[in-house]
Amino acid sequence: MNSKKSLLHGIGNQKETRLYYDSWADNYDETLKTWNYRAPQKSVKILKKYTSIKSGLILDLACGTGLFGEEVLKVFDSFKIDGSDISSISLKIAHKKNIYRKLFKNNFEDKMYLKINYDIVSLIGAMTYCKKHKKLFNNVSKYLNKGGVFIFTQRTDLWDKLDFNQKLIDISKNYNLIYKSKPIDYLPKNNDFTKNIKIRIVLIQKK
Ligand SMILES: C[S@@+](CC[C@H](N)C(=O)[O-])C[C@H]1O[C@@H](n2cnc3c(N)ncnc32)[C@H](O)[C@@H]1O
Repeated sequence: MNSKKSLLHGIGNQKETRLYYDSWADNYDETLKTWNYRAPQKSVKILKKYTSIKSGLILDLACGTGLFGEEVLKVFDSFKIDGSDISSISLKIAHKKNIYRKLFKNNFEDKMYLKINYDIVSLIGAMTYCKKHKKLFNNVSKYLNKGGVFIFTQRTDLWDKLDFNQKLIDISKNYNLIYKSKPIDYLPKNNDFTKNIKIRIVLIQKK
């Protein structure tokens, strides 16, 4: 799939995004490897270094084909992970990997009515698609146990454009900021992103 331009500038509405990831799902893992996508590995390192949570439940929002779930289980084999995404074909691939306890098809901006709470919620490589940040942060805090953490990535161009420093201040009533990385490589071998557009990884803790 020739997706680079749209990945950088936006894919479209939710339906277009779903169809885009559905048609990419079969070779998504392979493509991301060639672009040297390491956000899942780096996020797991941050969880290990900055939290004391060693087991429990994770909700992996926009889990895609399961790259983050795979990395979590390499390091913490006693976590149970649930995942959600809008792309059913990506979810099918994640399911085949046998990493996730449960998988849900849903839009991460819609509130999930859950019977349990989570120790960790993740949103790796997908904040790009969020339009309602305040709602997302509110919903995530409802999914978390007290003291639970939300780990997410955000592209540096969107960080500045959307003023994520201010957003972190706006949510400080509900969350403590534990860690905000410096800009780190995102898709360094993709010609549109190269080393120019990076990501930050952020870890916040529910008060
Ligand atoms: C770049 S991929 C990241 C997938 C995975 N977290 C990873 O690190 O490989 C972005 C994912 O976000 C999903 N996505 C985009 N918009 C979404 C939305 N509104 N709700 C749920 N998932 C969404 C896509 O289907 C896709 O699987």
